[in-house]
Amino acid sequence: MNFKFPKDFLFGCASSSYQIESGCNEDGKGENVNEHYHTHFPEKFCGGNPAFAADFYHRYRSDILDMKELGLKAFRFSISWSRIFPKNPTDVNQAGIDYYDDMINALVEANIVPMFDLWHSDLPYWVIEMGGVVNPDFVQWFGTYAKLCFEKFGDRVKFWSTINEPSINVMASYAHAANAPFLKDMDLAIKACHNAILAHYNALRIYKSMNLPGKIGAVIHVEPTYSRSMDPKDQIAADRRFAFYAGWWLDPMLKGHYPEILADHEYIMSKLPEGYAEDLQKNFVKADFIGVNYYNPTHTKYSDTDPMGYENYKPEDLDVDSYGFVYYPQGLFDVAMYFKETYPGTHIMITENGIGREKWGNFEEERKDEYRVRYMREHLREVNRALQAGADIGGYFCWSIMDTNEGYAGGYRFIFGLVQVDFETKERFRRDSWYYYQKVIAEGMVD
Ligand code: NOJ
Repeated sequence: MNFKFPKDFLFGCASSSYQIESGCNEDGKGENVNEHYHTHFPEKFCGGNPAFAADFYHRYRSDILDMKELGLKAFRFSISWSRIFPKNPTDVNQAGIDYYDDMINALVEANIVPMFDLWHSDLPYWVIEMGGVVNPDFVQWFGTYAKLCFEKFGDRVKFWSTINEPSINVMASYAHAANAPFLKDMDLAIKACHNAILAHYNALRIYKSMNLPGKIGAVIHVEPTYSRSMDPKDQIAADRRFAFYAGWWLDPMLKGHYPEILADHEYIMSKLPEGYAEDLQKNFVKADFIGVNYYNPTHTKYSDTDPMGYENYKPEDLDVDSYGFVYYPQGLFDVAMYFKETYPGTHIMITENGIGREKWGNFEEERKDEYRVRYMREHLREVNRALQAGADIGGYFCWSIMDTNEGYAGGYRFIFGLVQVDFETKERFRRDSWYYYQKVIAEGMVD
């Protein structure tokens, strides 16, 4: 059976600045949180020194030519805030602007639609020194940065995302110490989340006032959350877990309020600043689209000991890859249907989907990635099935165009790229999955 995609479907690839750029101290760039914490707590980064990444900073022109041969219709990347504003919220580094300007031109020349994130896990370190996302001034700092990016690149960038995976980049960074600045403080986390949403609204408001020819939204990590049983306690626990993880961002971004199912969740809601509901209501600007990062589902059960009221668990009968993700392509279909039903009229893009496998030490063998071909085929079939069932999906972005630095989650230990990178020489080699994706794009279908 063949699954055809619509003619204008955007087959893309994604990556992010700190995960593939390197060039950390070059041309006036300031330190970002990952560089700072890597210097001071290298053990948290599994050897993932950002300076040793794939050197996209110097090789983007030839990498973009390779993307053109691959047939990519779109490339999703992020701007490093600390290249543009290295020292503080107002002093601009022209070299940083010139770099992204030329990269965007190279994409346009290659006929590849640029999609850019403003914040993909690499806040400038000065943000942390000035109080981090918890400081209400964050909204203004982010607005200044966003406005400059819109002015400089907004004529060519067709899709903007304010924040990538805030459930991790904000919530987990402040509440679970999973990412820089490695804090475990739910009070701070909830306040930081609220400011992040206000910063997102502010960037949207600025963008809309500029009449630029693109669309703006955010990229959310969406894990469909399945309940352990039909017991109402488990069912509510699963719904609340989903609401807290994904709905916590989606509802404010698409409806202007926090999820109703959390309204009586004292533990969370009491931590929000006074007047939070009016704050959202009066600043709300609806996102034009939502980028969905899909990797795996979550399974949840009721808990009477955890203050959140739920606990996640891994069912024994499901495959888990070496990165720790449950292998479940159907989850992508469920997510697309969830959007169709819960947020009718919302355009979505699958902005990340991919499989990480731990390197096993045979460099040439690691180019043969039949497991990724299978993964892409099965997930693309689900995207296609969802399109046929009426989901509004504009594109699919494979994570990642090349091998990445997974930072705190595994450094350089995992293979995610269609393009293999030799991190000693920075040489590039195409994997089997590169050729498979090339065929998918050329044919406009998945087998
Ligand atoms: C999602 C994140 O956006 C990206 O930075 C990360 O590398 C991938 N997940 C894979 O873990």
